[in-house]
Amino acid sequence: MKLLFRALLLVPLALANMQAFAADYTIKFSHVVAPKTPKGQAAELFAKLVDERTKGRVKVEVFPNSQLYNDKKVLEAMRLSSSKTTGIMAAPSLSKFVKFSKTLQTFDLPYLFNDLNDVHKLVDSPLMDQLATGLDKKGLRALTVWDNGMKVFSIKADKPLRNTPADFNGMKFRIQSSNIAASMIKNLGGTPQKLPFKEVYTSLGQGVVDGQENAWSNIYSKKFHEVQDFISVSNHSYLGYLVVVSDEFWSNLPADIRNQVASALKDATDANRQYAAAADKSDRKKIENDRYAKVVDLTDAERAAWRKATAPVWAEFRDEIGGKLIDDVKNLLAH
Ligand code: LMR
Repeated sequence: MKLLFRALLLVPLALANMQAFAADYTIKFSHVVAPKTPKGQAAELFAKLVDERTKGRVKVEVFPNSQLYNDKKVLEAMRLSSSKTTGIMAAPSLSKFVKFSKTLQTFDLPYLFNDLNDVHKLVDSPLMDQLATGLDKKGLRALTVWDNGMKVFSIKADKPLRNTPADFNGMKFRIQSSNIAASMIKNLGGTPQKLPFKEVYTSLGQGVVDGQENAWSNIYSKKFHEVQDFISVSNHSYLGYLVVVSDEFWSNLPADIRNQVASALKDATDANRQYAAAADKSDRKKIENDRYAKVVDLTDAERAAWRKATAPVWAEFRDEIGGKLIDDVKNLLAH
């Protein structure tokens, strides 16, 4: 009797405690890369800052390594989601928005950016709004851009990729779901194959594809270099992410909460740029030290030849992206 009485007393107390700690809103942050990458680290920091700033009213659950969704599925889920209390957030690479935005394809144009400073010049300019325009009509709210880094090429072959088209001929390359990347590979002399990130390691290992293009942190954290022979430091295009959330969820958040979440995202974005700069150097070093794949720097002449070979991609996509927008971006970067 006594015990039952005590137990009854405890129930309302326990409920009260649960209510004190239960979040009002949940954000499921889904991504496909490893936690120790610039995106993975930024997502973790974002979750921590949101918890602090909203005093636990918003809980961010981070799902790395395609645990919850791949990038195609997450965008579908985000668009379909109508919950006002549980939001889906993700940071797919800019290349993966091709179904929803023609203008974002600008980021894939080969040799548009020399380095991440160029990228920041564009992302921090008013042109960014034009590039991401129209996504809200598709149910996606674009919030910020996160870096990974410039892409390099890896290959399983008896020699590195140096000469185009000779070294690309007969080689199959995994690419993201980007039509510009597909055209770029063809112009370099190879054959493109679109595959989800989760399938890259196995596809390389089993010879479904011979090579792939990616940033250092993805190659290292997913061990692509262990099943490849050479990496050519081409820095031919940018791998970065658009952080997006369901428009429905975001618009319905109370303004004070939305501001707190936005301020956490702003700080996570600043930190992401530092993580990316650090990973770019340290993960290249780790790959070199591992000695599975030999890292090869391209000469200026080789780089110029790759640039020339991929120039037709710009003409091919000019009308689709918008000629004026491309010119404005080029003028901003002015090299
Ligand atoms: C890829 O598919 O190679 C990348 O988009 C993965 C990522 O999120 O960095």
